[in-house]
Amino acid sequence: MRWVVAALPLVCCFAAAEQAPAPECATCHPAEAKLHAQTRMAHAMSPALSSAFVQNLPPHPLRESGDGYAFTYSNIENGVSVTATRGESHAQGVIEWVLGAGAQGQTPLVRTMDGVRESRVSYFPQLRQYGITVGQDGGASPSAEASLGLKESGRDLQSCIGCHSSAITRDLQPVIPGVQCGRCHLGAEEHARGGGKPPGDSARGKLPLNPGKLSAPEQVRFCGNCHRNKPPVDDAQLENLRFQPLRLVKSRCFASGQLACTTCHVAHQDARRNDPAFYNAKCHACHDSQSFHVDERKTGDCIGCHMPYVELHPALHFTDHYIRVVKTGDLPASIIKRRD
Ligand code: HEC
Ligand code: HEC
Ligand code: HEC
Ligand code: HEC
Ligand code: HEC
Ligand code: HEC
Ligand code: HEC
Repeated sequence: MRWVVAALPLVCCFAAAEQAPAPECATCHPAEAKLHAQTRMAHAMSPALSSAFVQNLPPHPLRESGDGYAFTYSNIENGVSVTATRGESHAQGVIEWVLGAGAQGQTPLVRTMDGVRESRVSYFPQLRQYGITVGQDGGASPSAEASLGLKESGRDLQSCIGCHSSAITRDLQPVIPGVQCGRCHLGAEEHARGGGKPPGDSARGKLPLNPGKLSAPEQVRFCGNCHRNKPPVDDAQLENLRFQPLRLVKSRCFASGQLACTTCHVAHQDARRNDPAFYNAKCHACHDSQSFHVDERKTGDCIGCHMPYVELHPALHFTDHYIRVVKTGDLPASIIKRRD
């Protein structure tokens, strides 16, 4: 059976408690389960009370700007209550979930009387600072409600949670937060229910999808269901530098048909920060000679020159996955940073 890769459902609404739960993947795959549990993907969404956003809140209110709204947070049973105040004007919301594992930023979802909002305030762990959520305008908000965040349409909210969680019901209760096994291994529930082996003769017939067995272009598209295959913003925007699949497919290396995400990334592990040697070794698998370099000093840090590290916001750093000879002026010099 061929899996239709492009059809990975971003949101897998499930009917609660219809069947007995499948055996845990960890019973039969303890090594993968242990590794994956430590990844940021597994923690791409977390209950508010256990998030860095809540745990680092200062004792005094936060302010959107000098003359703007002030935000007061207080713990409640299943999350945090937030009140925005400016003179007589105020509004209140509840935060149950926070998005982002906290490597770069964490953004809460704020439930208000008239729907769910993407919090105006985010926490940026690298800066150890709270600030306006990337993509939202700075300055004082026009109203107390608006100061709590950008209102999400039902559709936006579904895709937002759809990329950061593994199962949600239509009313968002309950939610299985984080990118868990079944998001990449489609069909795994059924496989687990069958005791790991499908009934009948065809021993491999009902194995779940293994993205490691897809062709390189198929795998890149598969991961791109969440990491983006298409620019969500205007094609020319610098923000697109953060979308690895989108950039990778422009590379001549990718045109070889052999370059997949797992050529460089180890499944069930985070990206390796500050370990260029690990990635440089991957280049040598296909580029064994150095004859392409006019200058023999260009031997060491391949990714340092060919996969620039870019700063899209003081707290958000990404690797430009468009592997190429980067020409002067190709990217604004101000956003290219040293990896350490
Ligand atoms: C009762 C034991 C059992 C459980 C529970 C189980 N598996 Fe497996 N799984 C197996 C066995 C055995 C194989 C190897 C089958 C083979 O190669 O014929 C396997 C193979 C796999 C593969 C490799 C498929 C491939 O084509 O290489 C993946 C991925 C996988 N399981 C994921 C999962 C996930 C995710 C879960 C939890 C939802 C899960 N499994 C639950 C026993 C189990
Ligand atoms: C269901 C959506 C989804 C799918 C499918 C998915 N990812 Fe992710 N991935 C995420 C999210 C969300 C994050 C951000 C985690 C966080 O909050 O920091 C992430 C983060 C990552 C990271 C960075 C972790 C770090 O070091 O900070 C890597 C690497 C990664 N994904 C690789 C992959 C690869 C390779 C595939 C395909 C095999 C894949 N992802 C498929 C949603 C997904
Ligand atoms: C199409 C899938 C997708 C959607 C929709 C999506 N995200 Fe993400 N999000 C990701 C991936 C993938 C990453 C990891 C980025 C990386 O490290 O390259 C991420 C990272 C993050 C981070 C970590 C900081 C950062 O910017 O890297 C936060 C916070 C976040 N998302 C919040 C949200 C919120 C809030 C929404 C909805 C308003 C949302 N996301 C919608 C896929 C998605
Ligand atoms: C972000 C996507 C993603 C998630 C989430 C994920 N995996 Fe995987 N998994 C992969 C990829 C990619 C491979 C293929 C690795 C390779 O071939 O290099 C893989 C391979 C496997 C295999 C086959 C290993 C082998 O030696 O052939 C098993 C078993 C497995 N995963 C189990 C799990 C379990 C259990 C979980 C949850 C705890 C999980 N995976 C979560 C992407 C994922
Ligand atoms: C799966 C094999 C493969 C891997 C791995 C790989 N490349 Fe390539 N790369 C190629 C192929 C094939 C070409 C095209 C060569 C040609 O057309 O002559 C290419 C082209 C290039 C080019 C020229 C691009 C241009 O637009 O002029 C650069 C630079 C490059 N690779 C650097 C790297 C670096 C750095 C790494 C490691 C981060 C890497 N490659 C990993 C296969 C690969
Ligand atoms: C040629 C090697 C290579 C390939 C192929 C590759 N990556 Fe990466 N990736 C890297 C390097 C190098 C880093 C930066 C590690 C560091 O921080 O030093 C990285 C970092 C990341 C990060 C962390 C955020 C960032 O941009 O720095 C994510 C997420 C990610 N890769 C996802 C993917 C996905 C999804 C694919 C497949 C579409 C992919 N990568 C393919 C080399 C690669
Ligand atoms: C100091 C920066 C630097 C480093 C380090 C570096 N390169 Fe290059 N690379 C360049 C430049 C600039 C060019 C364009 C040709 C030239 O000026 O030598 C180039 C050219 C190339 C090309 C050929 C592009 C074409 O036009 O076909 C490939 C392939 C390549 N590099 C791969 C690598 C690999 C693999 C490594 C690591 C072993 C590496 N580079 C390290 C800067 C660098």
